[in-house]
Amino acid sequence: MFILSSLKKIVVFTGAGMSAESGLKTFRDSNGLWEEYRIEDVATPEAWQNNKAHVLRFYNERLKQVIEAKPNQGHLILAELQKHFDVQIITQNIDDLHERAGSKKVLHLHGLITKMRSSIDENLIYPIKKQKIEVGDLCEKGSQLRPHIVWFGEMVPEMDNAMSIVAEADIFITVGTSLVVYPAAGLIYHTNPMAKKYLVDPGNFEASVLQSINHIKKTASQGLDELKKLLLSK
Ligand code: APR
Repeated sequence: MFILSSLKKIVVFTGAGMSAESGLKTFRDSNGLWEEYRIEDVATPEAWQNNKAHVLRFYNERLKQVIEAKPNQGHLILAELQKHFDVQIITQNIDDLHERAGSKKVLHLHGLITKMRSSIDENLIYPIKKQKIEVGDLCEKGSQLRPHIVWFGEMVPEMDNAMSIVAEADIFITVGTSLVVYPAAGLIYHTNPMAKKYLVDPGNFEASVLQSINHIKKTASQGLDELKKLLLSK
């Protein structure tokens, strides 16, 4: 027996603005993380080579904040949309707030802060149990454990997978990303030409980005509430 699914496929591409209303700082807004820290000191392989303790302090602080944060209304709306659509999230965020809100299909492009991995074998990935990683914490092959994060200058292993998923979207929703970090930002150009495209973000974007995208210039929770009503009315 076959059950034919007629659910439309929504692909949601999220960035730091998605979690802003949960109290997690974005990177490039005023007062964002990259005003407080230099990327080259905490988020590159060279930073890791030069000062592991400093890099670990930075990510341990991020982990603490993620553990204390709760999903916001925007995350909950995306989880609720699963009742009506086949919803796939592709996130640049390293927090697990989509999962905690109940989203079932979540692809993390830039890694996940709740995990750590071997620095000599990227397939050795472990949950962080004691809520931090310290210098001297070793994987089973004896190498220092590092955050399970994709740093600037590293490959994005899930990128091909993400491009295939985006190409299948009937509806493509981008939420809370400045669209300046590649290759992830290029995903908005991989949709099927027939797909309906929406961008939920209170910021300003270049005209070239907004071509064929409906810009809902609101926060994640307000904009997604508006979009949910629109999608459910069709
Ligand atoms: N709701 C929705 N969007 C918001 C909100 C909000 N409440 N507040 C801010 N924003 C928007 C901003 O207008 C901006 O467009 O969120 C976006 C945040 O942009 P960035 O700080 O650049 O974050 P992001 O695009 O996710 O960064 C991409 O860069 O530093 C790296 O690896 C890191 O994954 C990250 C990548």
